[in-house]
Amino acid sequence: MANADSSSSSRYRSVLNLRRKAHIYALVVLLCITSYLLAVFHRGSRLTTALSLSAPCNHFSAESSKTFPRCSANFSEYTPCHDPQRSLRYKRSRKIYKERHCPEEPLKCRVPAPHGYRNPFPWPASRDRAWFANVPHRELTVEKAVQNWIRSDGDRFVFPGGGTTFPNGADAYIEDIGMLINLKDGSIRTALDTGCGVASWGAYLLSRNILTLSIAPRDTHEAQVQFALERGVPAFIGILATKRLPFPSRAFDISHCSRCLIPWAEYDGIFLNEVDRFLRPGGYWILSGPPINWKKYWKGWQRKKEELNEEQTKIEKVAKSLCWNKLVEKDDIAIWQKPKNHLDCKANHKLTQNRSFCNAQNDPDKAWYTNMQTCLSPVPVVSSKEETAGGVVDNWPKRLKSIPPRIYKGTIEGVTAETYSKNYELWKKRVSHYKTVNNLLGTERYRNLLDMNAYLGGFAAALIEDPVWVMNVVPVQAKVNTLGAIYERGLIGIYHDWCEAMSTYPRTYDLIHADSVFSLYSNRCELEDILLEMDRILRPEGCVIIRDDADILVKVKSIVNGLEWDSIIVDHEDGPLQREKLLFAMKKYWTAPAASEKTN
Ligand SMILES: C[S@@+](CC[C@H](N)C(=O)[O-])C[C@H]1O[C@@H](n2cnc3c(N)ncnc32)[C@H](O)[C@@H]1O
Repeated sequence: MANADSSSSSRYRSVLNLRRKAHIYALVVLLCITSYLLAVFHRGSRLTTALSLSAPCNHFSAESSKTFPRCSANFSEYTPCHDPQRSLRYKRSRKIYKERHCPEEPLKCRVPAPHGYRNPFPWPASRDRAWFANVPHRELTVEKAVQNWIRSDGDRFVFPGGGTTFPNGADAYIEDIGMLINLKDGSIRTALDTGCGVASWGAYLLSRNILTLSIAPRDTHEAQVQFALERGVPAFIGILATKRLPFPSRAFDISHCSRCLIPWAEYDGIFLNEVDRFLRPGGYWILSGPPINWKKYWKGWQRKKEELNEEQTKIEKVAKSLCWNKLVEKDDIAIWQKPKNHLDCKANHKLTQNRSFCNAQNDPDKAWYTNMQTCLSPVPVVSSKEETAGGVVDNWPKRLKSIPPRIYKGTIEGVTAETYSKNYELWKKRVSHYKTVNNLLGTERYRNLLDMNAYLGGFAAALIEDPVWVMNVVPVQAKVNTLGAIYERGLIGIYHDWCEAMSTYPRTYDLIHADSVFSLYSNRCELEDILLEMDRILRPEGCVIIRDDADILVKVKSIVNGLEWDSIIVDHEDGPLQREKLLFAMKKYWTAPAASEKTN
């Protein structure tokens, strides 16, 4: 009995054990299923929240003609026109090799996000932190540790706001600048930071309503522009070398360089001459770092006093030749001002060492693969010394809605004050319609926005109250050059040719808007190449809004299907009778495989 008892009790125990195990297995399976369903639900809810997929007019279908494979993981930071490997084929003199050099054959695969990629922190938290997995480069945390550019903190980076000439933070440095020129009254709105590092200067100006474009090359300051973009700060890859920067003339209210390593005194002052071209009349050039305040810092910079003195004397001479006025030099900061007009500059030309003016064939607004010049770009003619050449822009925020001087002076063909005002109203209506289809537009979910064919900047203007910044692109093929007017509104942008890759990193933008881009380019280059480029610069789960003629949109949709984008074509704001339709799409989340998976 005892045996029977003990054997039955041991059988009972093992049954219990089995049951317990079965319960545990069931629980584990249940947990797995629940978490899977939650994940699916979460991702699905993100999708359906973003795009109301039941939007009217989803009766446009398009077969996918072809699929585009995923590129290998080593393409995750691919910048086609700034490829460090290919750049080695070009001359090192004047840093030509760091300029744009695009491949003849575009890449036909889709650039992956690095393994572990996550959606960036939303603005304004993103100003101060980013995920390591998104930009897996720790070099600057070591090289620029003393200057407080960026710190590593577990799975993230922290940006303490420091820079080379402002290790104590951009805020205090900007306060110092603010003691010398008025940064508060709205007269300064558009700024350019040449040689930006991780763009803390621009990042901290945003809370002062000053919109800065930050530029730097892809060089030894590893991933600097990528960090800027990850922070939600306007930036692109750019260098002062031999070609004009892709801006119109008279664009920026300030241009800034904090130890930006641009040899301002060299090559007959060609780089300052370029700054003069894109500075608004009355605009400022700010310089800190060598040679400014050399008497204090020459030892620390490990430079000879005589050499620094000579550099400064040369810079002063170039500034004079541009007819700039040295406004102030205080401690570590020097500021020059471009004249409001060229009356004095022309009158004194023979007496002074002013440089000669460019001739009429040299269009100062042309800046796409255009060589820099050493001749002075003339500004529009005025009749009195007090007049601002080209017209006065209003202070921000009034400036956004006022008629831009280039328009009221009739210098943009076919654009009148009336068409401008109508355009402003039109875009307010269009953007509010967009928000009904994608209810994440205007929320913190999308920070970096691109308008591929911006015309007068109406899309950006309609989003001005939202936590976004917009890169307004005026295609070089556009019928009229409107980029100058965009700057006059206090917005920023560049020229670009969409048959080539953009000077930016993969995953720059959260949302891309393409108004009539595909009809503009339909006979110029392959639509699939433009879409592959959009895919490269769009973040996973980023959104695209394309508006175009229905026939073109159907072709676009067939290509989009092969890109792993979820998409839908919806009617025009004004109803189904309009030929123009809208395509809303969202790029799926996917990344390169983990390093271990790659080798398997
Ligand atoms: C010492 S870092 C200073 C960065 C930042 N201005 C700061 O104060 O922290 C020099 C910067 O100038 C950039 N740079 C060097 N030569 C340049 C050029 N010719 N045009 C534009 N940027 C340049 C570098 O890539 C880098 O961003």
